[in-house]
Amino acid sequence: MRNSTSSSKMKGLLVLTALFVAVFGKVTFEGDQVLRITAKDAEQITLLKELHEPMLGLDFWMDPVHESLPVDVRVPFHSLQAVRAFLAYNQIQYNVMIENVQDLLDDEEREMVKYRALPRSTDDFVYTTYHNLNSIYSFIDMLVAEHSNLVSKIVIGQSYENRPLNVLKFSTGANRPGLWIDTGIHSREWVTQASGIWFAKKIVTDYGRDPVLTDILNNYDIFLEIVTNPDGFAYTHSNDRMWRKTRKPNSGSICVGVDPNRNWDAGFGGGGSSGSPCSETYRGPSAHSEPEVKAIVDFVKSHGNLKAFVSIHSYSQMLLYPYGYTSTAAKDKTELHELARKAISELQSLYNTSYKYGSIITTIYQASGGTVDWTYNQGIKYSYTFELRDTGRYGFLLPANQIVPTAEETWLALIAIMEHAKNNPY
Ligand SMILES: *[C@@H]1O[C@H](CO)[C@@H](O)[C@H](O)[C@H]1NC(C)=O
Ligand SMILES: [Zn+2]
Repeated sequence: MRNSTSSSKMKGLLVLTALFVAVFGKVTFEGDQVLRITAKDAEQITLLKELHEPMLGLDFWMDPVHESLPVDVRVPFHSLQAVRAFLAYNQIQYNVMIENVQDLLDDEEREMVKYRALPRSTDDFVYTTYHNLNSIYSFIDMLVAEHSNLVSKIVIGQSYENRPLNVLKFSTGANRPGLWIDTGIHSREWVTQASGIWFAKKIVTDYGRDPVLTDILNNYDIFLEIVTNPDGFAYTHSNDRMWRKTRKPNSGSICVGVDPNRNWDAGFGGGGSSGSPCSETYRGPSAHSEPEVKAIVDFVKSHGNLKAFVSIHSYSQMLLYPYGYTSTAAKDKTELHELARKAISELQSLYNTSYKYGSIITTIYQASGGTVDWTYNQGIKYSYTFELRDTGRYGFLLPANQIVPTAEETWLALIAIMEHAKNNPY
């Protein structure tokens, strides 16, 4: 429970942050550290929850839920001393994962500006660096122009700030069932959008060459939404690299945005989501309140024949299937589990990257209103969520030199899922 003093202080702090962003343009993370905290028992987990105190301004990358999972948290410079003292006093173990968050952001930015000039073709596009929204949208248009026989762009809706919600449709014939992949629904998970770009290029390159992909595309359409939360993504470039949610204002609150992975009509409002607009897991005022979510809901329903749905996040190296909102097992659990095992063993075969797998609620924690719980309940059996690299060394700030290896290994798992869907029609 927050008392009124702390909530008015919080308002003060948030207004200050908002002013700072307005005046200086971009939030800096100078001196911020990311700590990995290892709680040894339930009591320490309870203590760690006290760190949600808004004045501290902590950004939990992995929430304190259970002592079996480490807690990753970005601590702003101004709170470091207090947090360190709190952990020491309570004898809670931790180590510093990232010494200075801003150093990593500077590296990331330096890498990006090297490739500012827009390439003339998708062959010249630089897959080994991160890109801004304009660059990704121009990639999409180039790809469509180069391979108009195979891929088209469909706009499934508009974001809150009126950006197009672009989906690439890879298709070699009419009236086919569909397979869906989305990346970047959480905007700060940059390796996911970057992987989505790589997947798109991989599909046009491999069609007609790789027999497995060719067979898939001769029977199914693939839909790929690379920038699923474009407002949030634009904001991660312009203002705050750590932005996760959508950018819709919340009435009655100064806090902006909804967690688009808590906004779906599947256990909406249940445990593992927040009713507070300032929370990173704020579920929104109602299911499908976010236009970015509603656009996919409408697309899935009007298409009516999607056979697989894969929603890609980072980080923690996991492949997860429903459910997140309930501990009731999905009715296809045995098959989903076995396919996940196969997919991650394919993934691991390339660079020995090891993944955990299982249902969302048993493998991470309860999360309600999630994407793939909804798609599964709509009858899309092969509904999966990935959490890509890494396991916390860099977290959301994965260095650009890991983009291509991450995309390559993930692609093997995606092929395994799509091939299984093709071989097991339902
Ligand atoms: C693969 O990774 C595991 C740890 O996940 C390690 O024990 C093993 O030695 C690695 N194998 C190779 C071939 O590098
Ligand atoms: Zn995410």
